[in-house]
Amino acid sequence: MWVEKYRPQKLEEVANQKAIKSRLSSLLARKEELPHLLFAGPPGSGKTTTALIVAKQVLGEHWADYTLMLNASDERGIDTVREKVKVFARFVDRREGVPFRLVVLDESDEMTRDSQNALRRIMEEYSKYTRFVLVCNYSSGIIEAIQSRCAIFRFQRLDEESVVEHLKAIAKKESLAYADDSVFASVFEATQGDLRQAINLLQAASSSGELTQDSVKTVSGSSVRSRVGEIITLAMGGNFEGARTKMVELTRVYGIPERDFLRFANEVVTSMEVDDLAKAVEILAEYDFRLVQGSQPELQLTAMLAQLSKLKKKGD
Ligand SMILES: Nc1ncnc2c1ncn2[C@@H]1O[C@H](COP(=O)(O)OP(=O)(O)OP(=O)(O)O)[C@@H](O)[C@H]1O
Ligand SMILES: [Mg+2]
Repeated sequence: MWVEKYRPQKLEEVANQKAIKSRLSSLLARKEELPHLLFAGPPGSGKTTTALIVAKQVLGEHWADYTLMLNASDERGIDTVREKVKVFARFVDRREGVPFRLVVLDESDEMTRDSQNALRRIMEEYSKYTRFVLVCNYSSGIIEAIQSRCAIFRFQRLDEESVVEHLKAIAKKESLAYADDSVFASVFEATQGDLRQAINLLQAASSSGELTQDSVKTVSGSSVRSRVGEIITLAMGGNFEGARTKMVELTRVYGIPERDFLRFANEVVTSMEVDDLAKAVEILAEYDFRLVQGSQPELQLTAMLAQLSKLKKKGD
């Protein structure tokens, strides 16, 4: 996967996010005093990447031994987080030059308020030798008490120039053949500043050999939204298998986050002329809830499509 192969290893390699890079550099110059960090911003803008870079810079070559990566929406509740942090803080020795351990908590805005309150206490309890990096899409989803204890960094959706420049550099390293720069503009157009998605699209579009406007168009469809639309239409028409296959392709190959899938699905369903709108929306809401609970996303979306395709059968 090119997204992993070309994941930046140093702050300088992170595309755009200039203000963030300069503020972080000065914090990293005095790493003993590093505060807790809160990274907020849209998907594919470099939050997780930057968190990993911080870990490497602060902790050096043994960074992986001193970094606990948790996904707030995967873990079953705050008790798991507390247990893991506790064990981690207790058992790892403190080597010279390693000022503390890092806990990176991804998707932290998916935690309930209660969990976040508990998290705040955990942060305090272990703050002597532990720093937290909280990663989220919306800082508004994080309780005030935590926000005020963190240095907040707001990541921006990447602009066209940085995306095109980044894609061109990858194309060069992969020796891709392409007619002109307009293909990169089209990739940007289809992915709207989400660099992960842009790189995935670039890879998919060049898998046949040459990168062309047509190959970009073929793999991007007109947009993710319209692809989700196709899938929902298939499901609501009773074609569960067809819908499932396309959903798996969309989430696995293009890396569309499951929550985005649901968001688009909701928009599509409410704009469709369906007999059982209330029932359909109820189904979406149910699975939205289950995804927040962190149960296996692909299985949940599959079950959701099955339910939607049953609506049709009943109506017939
Ligand atoms: N600013 C950036 N500079 C260079 N590469 C980037 C940048 N942002 C994203 N990427 C590319 O996209 C991939 C995913 O980025 P990353 O995991 O940092 O996104 P994120 O902001 O954490 O997104 P999400 O909210 O979906 O977790 C990286 O491996 C990298 O290849
Ligand atoms: Mg991330």
